Amino acid sequence: MKAIIQSRYGDETTLKLSDVKCPSIKKPTDINVAIKYVNMTAGDMHINTMDIGGPMRLMMKLIFGWKRPRKSIRGITGSGVVIETGAAVKKVKPGDYVTFIQSLNAGALADAMIINEKRTIQQVSKVILEAATTLPFGYLSAMHFINAETIKPGMKVLILGASGSVGSAALDIAVQFGASVTAVLRAKNFDKISTLNPHATMDYQSDAFNTPSKMYDVVFDAVNKYSKKTAQSWLKPGGAYMTIKKATREDPMKLNQLIEWLEAGKIQPLIEHVYPKNEYQKAHRHLYQGHKVGNILIQWDPT
Ligand SMILES: NC(=O)c1ccc[n+]([C@@H]2O[C@H](COP(=O)([O-])OP(=O)(O)OC[C@H]3O[C@@H](n4cnc5c(N)ncnc54)[C@H](OP(=O)(O)O)[C@@H]3O)[C@@H](O)[C@H]2O)c1
Repeated sequence: MKAIIQSRYGDETTLKLSDVKCPSIKKPTDINVAIKYVNMTAGDMHINTMDIGGPMRLMMKLIFGWKRPRKSIRGITGSGVVIETGAAVKKVKPGDYVTFIQSLNAGALADAMIINEKRTIQQVSKVILEAATTLPFGYLSAMHFINAETIKPGMKVLILGASGSVGSAALDIAVQFGASVTAVLRAKNFDKISTLNPHATMDYQSDAFNTPSKMYDVVFDAVNKYSKKTAQSWLKPGGAYMTIKKATREDPMKLNQLIEWLEAGKIQPLIEHVYPKNEYQKAHRHLYQGHKVGNILIQWDPT
């Protein structure tokens, strides 16, 4: 089968479309998925390029491989159709469509991959497959912070980095919970996020952003580019500060909730561009530039 493999850490030129052995079911709880879409995420960028400095880089190399990614087939999250299941699989059957994330294992940039049913993999309907591909990364991460416990109707919420996959998802979910959300992003992207209905937008390069007012119930740094002090300068006394710097969990039950919201039209993921498979280097270059708006996908198989 065809897969995109990486033989050393680096930019998009280190990725090659190659012929590899087809994966096979080994455990009774394994699911073999034929890939349809792959989401290009900040997680892929950090792992593939090792663009992280300090002690974190050392830790990442210990986890993902010293000189090259231990899992040479890249792509941590995507969607597809089940082609075969192990004898004990209960969650899905051949022919079902699914969306999934496997940050540690990767392997989504391929004709097929094996995912264990105990991992974060959930059934979706075919009609929402493209949009559902965005849920396991940005939406699931955002939901860890922005959820029914933290957001109440009428709350004033400030989202720093609302143009990213996490930030746009946080905006979408917070608006759904009835919050009045101010989105902080580059001015040229205001129009691109308008479908998510922010109450207000603010350019992070403007004077207004440099004159904080303590008026928000919740401030969420969704991009990890702000100090706690800067973020807290926008908070009301007693308000809640949250940052994407804190680790999140890939939770299958929360993914199910997001799928339900998507099916009901309550959330509307932002997809900036869908690249065909043969433009995989272009798609990765777009990702590595760090300015994408919402999500970018690779359509692996248009059938
Ligand atoms: N803790 C976790 O478990 C977890 C989970 C998911 C993601 N993350 C991390 O969270 C970060 C964001 O992820 P993501 O997927 O949302 O990234 P992304 O989709 O690549 O988005 C980054 C966005 O932020 C904008 N941006 C850059 N500098 C900014 C600034 N100073 N203020 C406001 N916006 C700015 C960029 O556009 P412009 O540069 O054009 O403004 C871009 O639209 C990444 O570092 C990722 O690794 C952590």
